[in-house]
Amino acid sequence: MHDICLNMPPMVQTFDPEDLFTRRCIWVNGPVIVGAGPSGLAVAAGLKDQGVPFVILERANCIASLWQNRTYDRLKLHLPKQFCQLPNFPFPEDFPEYPTKFQFITYLESYAKHFNIAPQFNETVQSAKWLVVATGENSEKVVPRFEGLEEFGGHVMHACDYKSGEGYGGQKVLVVGCGNSGMEVSLDLCNHNAKTSMVVRSSVHVLPREIFGKSTFEVAVMLMKRLPLWMVDKILLILVRLILGNVEKYGLKRPSVGPLELKHTAGKTPVLDIGALEKIRSGKIKVVPGIRRFLPGKVELVDGQVLQIDSVVLATGYHSNVPSWLKENDFFSNDGTPRNPFPNGWKGKGGLYAVGFTRRGLSGASLDAINVAHDIAKSWKEETKQKRKTVAARHRRCISHF
Ligand SMILES: Cc1cc2nc3c(=O)[nH]c(=O)nc-3n(C[C@H](O)[C@H](O)[C@H](O)COP(=O)(O)OP(=O)(O)OC[C@H]3O[C@@H](n4cnc5c(N)ncnc54)[C@H](O)[C@@H]3O)c2cc1C
Ligand SMILES: NC(=O)c1ccc[n+]([C@@H]2O[C@H](COP(=O)([O-])OP(=O)(O)OC[C@H]3O[C@@H](n4cnc5c(N)ncnc54)[C@H](OP(=O)(O)O)[C@@H]3O)[C@@H](O)[C@H]2O)c1
Repeated sequence: MHDICLNMPPMVQTFDPEDLFTRRCIWVNGPVIVGAGPSGLAVAAGLKDQGVPFVILERANCIASLWQNRTYDRLKLHLPKQFCQLPNFPFPEDFPEYPTKFQFITYLESYAKHFNIAPQFNETVQSAKWLVVATGENSEKVVPRFEGLEEFGGHVMHACDYKSGEGYGGQKVLVVGCGNSGMEVSLDLCNHNAKTSMVVRSSVHVLPREIFGKSTFEVAVMLMKRLPLWMVDKILLILVRLILGNVEKYGLKRPSVGPLELKHTAGKTPVLDIGALEKIRSGKIKVVPGIRRFLPGKVELVDGQVLQIDSVVLATGYHSNVPSWLKENDFFSNDGTPRNPFPNGWKGKGGLYAVGFTRRGLSGASLDAINVAHDIAKSWKEETKQKRKTVAARHRRCISHF
């Protein structure tokens, strides 16, 4: 374990956006967790449980800032709640199978209260060594460069700032991207009577959220216990074809690699459909190809079509920010995720840990958190025992002088 001095290189430097010149020095007797999202909270709970002191630093002014500040209102968990709960604290029984984002936030607040976790807010770690990295796979928005976007003149926002389609009625809106965010934002806009076009520049796996009354995720997990990944993919795609029909005729080309293999190899999450497909079938959401450039009030697509549009929502994804602040480490690769793939990506060298970079959402974060908390607690107990022995030996030496 290391004594960490904030704002004193080379350990941890924090940045208070309120006051650039704020200088504070805090000695921490125990691990430092960076990020108070589900991953950071889960590790903190594990450490509390085992009596290890720690500090959590969070750049926002609340826990779970992704969920509280950077997600749209209609968001629900896509997987059944038993796959999303954090260690040692189940969801309340009266929560529905797919809790809303507001219920999930309430759950996380009770989690922090139950384990008495008090993060230090408004602390952005700018540079650090030796700690628990829990800053998330989705800490920064991806904003691609598009020719002519500056001259477009309409309203442009990223999906992380999108709350609801209220106020978009009658507007022509272009949603860029067809991941889970792009699909759901398109659905929401459509439900609010916006004329919605969705850019699908490559291919995408759209799966139903449920297969014959069971969550698709659960079905996949069950099959994977008995069969190889490629075979599970084949079975899933047959079932999906039976349920959804051929989606390629609507412009949703399927990747040549199966959904689980694609997730495993490239980290690309399949879309779990919760209603957008129906709107695409009925023509209410128009699927369009990639963007060539923007023009004033218009967009030109790669097939030469020109569309009049009023607003653009960039549902173009997120990336990790770890390489920008975690110094001198070969634990993370340039894309900000641990070099060792799941399930071995949680432990680096010299007391460095990562939680929540498994590409497996909340269930992956919980597994990491349990491993990290156990590992730290083990070294903590060994170290404290060692220190006690040394102090006792010194004490004996002291006594023998008299
Ligand atoms: C729209 C959307 C919906 C999602 N829905 C689901 C879902 O239904 N199920 C699921 O399993 N997963 C879902 N995910 C994935 C989701 O990101 C994770 O499951 C979950 O939030 C991961 O928790 P985390 O704590 O690892 O990361 P985050 O929730 O991103 O928390 C990281 C925290 O670290 C803080 N931070 C970042 N950088 C710094 C810094 N330098 N210094 C200090 N603090 C910092 C952030 O402010 C943030 O509070 C969704 C993601 C998005 C974007
Ligand atoms: N309720 C839920 O569970 C829920 C809801 C929303 C999000 N999420 C999760 O949050 C994470 C992020 O999801 P996301 O949908 O925001 O991001 P994402 O899955 O990374 O999807 C980004 C999309 O943007 C497209 N894109 C990127 N750059 C583009 C460009 N220049 N032109 C056109 N298209 C471009 C990508 O196309 P290419 O594929 O061609 O690159 C892709 O379709 C995922 O893990 C997702 O599952 C979960």
